[in-house]
Amino acid sequence: MKTIIEPHRIKMVETIKLTTPEQRSEMIRAAHYNLFLLRAEDVIIDLLTDSGTSAMSADQWAALMRGDESYAGARSWFRFEESVKSIFGFEQVIPTHQGRAAEHILFGVTVQPGAIVPNNTHFDTTRANVEFRGGKAVDLPCAESADLQSDYPFKGNMDTAALEALIAKEGAERIPIIMITITNNSGGGQPVSMANIREVSRIARKAGIPFYIDACRFAENAHFIKRREPGFENTPTIDIAREIFSYADGCTMSAKKDAFANIGGFLCTNDSDLALRERNILILTEGFPTYGGLAGRDLEAIAVGLQEILEENYLDYRLLSTRYVVRHLHEQGVPVVTPAGGHAVYLDARRFLPHIDPLQYPGQALAVELYKQAGIRGVEIGSLMFGSDPHSGEEKPARWELVRLAIPRRVYTQSHMDYVVEGVTEVFQRREQIGGMKILEAPRFLRHFTARLDWL
Ligand code: F0G
Repeated sequence: MKTIIEPHRIKMVETIKLTTPEQRSEMIRAAHYNLFLLRAEDVIIDLLTDSGTSAMSADQWAALMRGDESYAGARSWFRFEESVKSIFGFEQVIPTHQGRAAEHILFGVTVQPGAIVPNNTHFDTTRANVEFRGGKAVDLPCAESADLQSDYPFKGNMDTAALEALIAKEGAERIPIIMITITNNSGGGQPVSMANIREVSRIARKAGIPFYIDACRFAENAHFIKRREPGFENTPTIDIAREIFSYADGCTMSAKKDAFANIGGFLCTNDSDLALRERNILILTEGFPTYGGLAGRDLEAIAVGLQEILEENYLDYRLLSTRYVVRHLHEQGVPVVTPAGGHAVYLDARRFLPHIDPLQYPGQALAVELYKQAGIRGVEIGSLMFGSDPHSGEEKPARWELVRLAIPRRVYTQSHMDYVVEGVTEVFQRREQIGGMKILEAPRFLRHFTARLDWL
């Protein structure tokens, strides 16, 4: 059969409030042209993020009822720890309320002012957490990633020659951690190959630098390896995931992505001394080490979700459904990042709106127009998100101007995806009438969340 179907059926629904283009024009104006400032109920298809927005399964809901809310040593903690260890394999597991809390603790104990942290591409909270400690977050994406339209299968890879050059130039002492983000969220949702992970691990070990994985979308990345990297066709995806983590010294994880949970995260390491220092901060900021900012029922939902996310029928559906949207947009001539990633479709706003200067935020203009057209909420990943140096305030164009349409897990159906294709195509047909934007007011760190904008 060619028709893509969801490998699950629905037993609980949420009504979507339908609005008119006129109503949406008014609402986005009142939200200062920042989609983060809209009320969620005024959005028809919410593709702002795939984070914390998953639909939980019947098994997860059942597990919630088993939540043990004991302060210390709860049953739910042991189930959580066992589930994490069965996939990730690290000795020390530290629960946190979400991924950025894990980053905050990790960089809090490892990054000193002047330190350098290389990554294939930092996600915005990862970058901000490094910079907040006075460190420098350096992106080392592979050369193939520069061409947004090529079909290279692993554009999320790190440039390993550049990594070696950086270590040689700066010295290993200045680099407390080498990190790789799977899949590469800020770089178009592209996967990283096993070969690249092995090579980064080899370089890190040779230099004596701990190697960490930002594991948010590890299951999607593992399944891309199965489908795209020769030699893994017959390996179960769970074993691919285990092999990935076997090359690392630790990881940060947001369970809001590839664990089907609405909240949660964790930090892992094999270094027990480091874990001790991390748990000291954990107790100050998150909670006791057997719950770390989470309710017992959240730990249960994550324990079950981590196992479910590795079901291969689900992962096949996930990758196919995203590819379906990318293929149909591509056929309409819409500039979209290819090959398709797992969790999101990325529109290339620089080519979509070539008449708008990068510092007039073409990605934001496109995101606003998509909302007005069809009530679809995406997020700009471009010069609004990354164009300003938080220390100097200097404004310069980001590497790319993208609009990410992130697809919540198990929430929308294929007909919703058809609606998205239609909405984007309609905006594309009137693209010449769309103008640029200016920022009226914005904070220094993570400014895209609260910036107020207007049309030029
Ligand atoms: N790392 C990556 C690659 C992420 O995509 C995110 C979150 C985080 C770390 C932080 O995790 O949200 O649990 O604190 N990404 C979300 C997104 C917010 O929309 O892509 P968190």
